[in-house]
Amino acid sequence: MTYLEASRKKAEALRSREHVRILALETSCDETAAAVIEDGRRILSNVVFSQIDLHELYGGVVPEIASRAHMEACDRVVDEALSQAGMGLRDADALAVTYGPGLVGALLTGVNCMKGLAFAAEKPLIPVNHIEGHVSANFLTHPDLEPPFLCLVVSGGHSHLVEVAGYGEYHLIGQTVDDAAGEAFDKAARVLGLPYPGGPRIDALAEEGDPGFLSLPHPKLEGRYDVSFSGVKTAFLNAVHGMEQRGEKLPKADLAASFRFAVCDQLAEKAERLLRDRIAAGARPVMALAGGVSANRELRRRMAALCEGLGVRLVMPRLDLCTDNGAMIGAAAYYQLMKGEIAGLELNAVPALRFV
Ligand code: KG4
Ligand code: ZN
Repeated sequence: MTYLEASRKKAEALRSREHVRILALETSCDETAAAVIEDGRRILSNVVFSQIDLHELYGGVVPEIASRAHMEACDRVVDEALSQAGMGLRDADALAVTYGPGLVGALLTGVNCMKGLAFAAEKPLIPVNHIEGHVSANFLTHPDLEPPFLCLVVSGGHSHLVEVAGYGEYHLIGQTVDDAAGEAFDKAARVLGLPYPGGPRIDALAEEGDPGFLSLPHPKLEGRYDVSFSGVKTAFLNAVHGMEQRGEKLPKADLAASFRFAVCDQLAEKAERLLRDRIAAGARPVMALAGGVSANRELRRRMAALCEGLGVRLVMPRLDLCTDNGAMIGAAAYYQLMKGEIAGLELNAVPALRFV
């Protein structure tokens, strides 16, 4: 029997088991992260090793450095996740790994690490889409949450409004026509001379600033639920350069608050339009947030106020589960395992993997 045939049999048997524990690894960008998740909902351990210190000097993630750092950290992070869950590799029912989207070298390190472990320990291997992982972080924070629900996915590479119709079933409703929200935050931070990653720094600075300081464009777009951040970014950049040329001291907190307001305003406006449309059509939608930018304080407050006003349930991942982690990969993997979605040893990294 080949590895894959044996895995299929094991995966089939796991579907009727009372409890299933999955060891998951995430290495798509600059976090080496492993976790053990029970039944897609309970975190038995969640270990995140951040490489930020290594990349800070360069103002962004250096792919080659990321791959090498993942290689050095993988074993240690996986061992730590198992030990914190009080188990050995043998006790894991299945293994899961992010296979895209992300940096090819970084992804390959994780994929190869888990292929090796899965083959050696004779466990099924579940290939997980990183963005599906972000959406699934909500299942860990809200154990009663079930599809269907609407989700605003905002990360370094994605700004999507989707409908989660079922587990692993996504329908695209709206998206950015240019930059992703996280990417825009990172670029604005760079203009203000803030270190990488810029999003959290802008967010913290903005708490002390005046969002009305600088008025930024609010684009009119063809797509009813689409967003665009490139015009906001350019206007911001021009304003900052203009101040610098005039020798003015940059009011960084006010600038950060103005930029954050412009980004969150567009996201909240499109979410509101969608919710109102659904409610008008007789639906009772549930709204979720996902991805690194869902840690943004202004976005969380805006969405909370919006949903409260509309009488809509809002779910958001716990703050530490918004940014990259292994737990969310283990949550997504569980529902794939239940559908028999497992990989053979030919599994490869797919850097531009889509989710809708
Ligand atoms: O989801 P994530 O950890 O990685 C990707 O899959 O891309 O998202 C990282 C992005 C970065 O652009 C980072 O600056 C942004 O999320 N981010 C934030 C905040 N925390 C992380 N942006 C705004 N406010 C935050 N609090
Ligand atoms: Zn991510």
